[in-house]
Amino acid sequence: MNILVTGGAGYIGSHTCVALLEAGHSVSIADNLCNSKRETVDKVKLIANKEVTFYEMDVTNAEAVDVVFQNHKIDGVIHFAGLKAVGESVELPLDYYYNNIVSTLILAKACLKYSVNKFVFSSSATVYGDNTVPFVETLNLLPTTNPYGETKAMCERILTDIAKANPSFSVSILRYFNPVGAHESGFIGEAPNGIPNNLMPYVTQVAKGKLKRLRVFGNDYPTVDGTGVRDYIHVVDLAEGHVAALDHLTEGVHIYNLGTGQGTSVLELVNAFETANDINVPYEIVDRRPGDIASCYADASKAKRELGWTAKRDIIAMCRDSWRFETNSKE
Ligand code: NAD
Ligand code: WQD
Repeated sequence: MNILVTGGAGYIGSHTCVALLEAGHSVSIADNLCNSKRETVDKVKLIANKEVTFYEMDVTNAEAVDVVFQNHKIDGVIHFAGLKAVGESVELPLDYYYNNIVSTLILAKACLKYSVNKFVFSSSATVYGDNTVPFVETLNLLPTTNPYGETKAMCERILTDIAKANPSFSVSILRYFNPVGAHESGFIGEAPNGIPNNLMPYVTQVAKGKLKRLRVFGNDYPTVDGTGVRDYIHVVDLAEGHVAALDHLTEGVHIYNLGTGQGTSVLELVNAFETANDINVPYEIVDRRPGDIASCYADASKAKRELGWTAKRDIIAMCRDSWRFETNSKE
């Protein structure tokens, strides 16, 4: 299939492009590089040893999107493009609502206009809010406490309504848990701008000596050791989940958790990182971070049952591959 990947120069998008190319699909990327680099597209081509068409463009620009659909016979869209920093979304709600929702509306409209019936959307476990773990797809969604999470919940509803009204429009909504790790080549991975918000990139920068010590946000949660529990998933497993979702896409709306089903605490992750890479990660316990929940992990059985997909890479592989990418990067 010819797949249009929006946000394909980004962290999850680039790994998914590699997985798509390796599975025999053709890929066009549309990315405005607001949180990524053009070199990543070259790395994708290098790893897969295949060509990719790259459009440096904003997917909130309807005319530019129309040109892409005119230029290619697109079979499916995977829509990664979006702003994703939870804290920033509280400061810049308009930017987040505009970018994440308008992009989804414009792409869905182009799909209907050009009879492109396959649409895969990047959602997030954040839409579950502070629900009871494990999170299963049938749970009622709870408020997410930040505009970023609300954009994901809104886009899920928008795509569901569009699919109801257009029976041939097939939508797969993928709720990612906590993506970490990097391609085993060490060529592509997560390279956040500035000081990282997320745990794994913070840990790798502490290990490298770029940051002094990790601040562990709270050790008084009702969890195994008091620190927050999350379902970390290797980004290459996540990428393969997209190929499976696309291959199994049928009419209607299908929602899948993409996680491992395993919870790991902050301190367990730090220990795994130290063991996997034989390196020390200094840390201190500080206050809880506002908006955090105690535990978040998936019931991953639906994706296994319906897509034949499960995550294969363990926490040690995630730590090893994240560290390889960090040590490869010049910054
Ligand atoms: P990323 O920032 O690395 O990738 C997003 C890409 O989209 C970037 O390359 C950016 O330049 C591009 N982009 C943003 N707005 C655009 C626009 N209007 N037009 C064109 N390109 C645009 O982020 P990621 O971690 O790869 O996340 C991909 C998707 O998955 C996002 O929608 C994100 O919300 C979602 N998601 C991410 C996580 C996570 O923890 N990384 C978890 C759940 C869901
Ligand atoms: C993980 C754990 C922190 C940093 C976020 C978004 C979510 C999704 C994935 C997009 C928590 C603790 C963290 C640090 C720490 N993204 N932590 N010190 O918050 O689970 O999820 O990214 O959709 O929407 O909210 O991920 O990596 O920030 O935190 O102790 O410096 O690590 O408290 O328990 P989170 P995270």
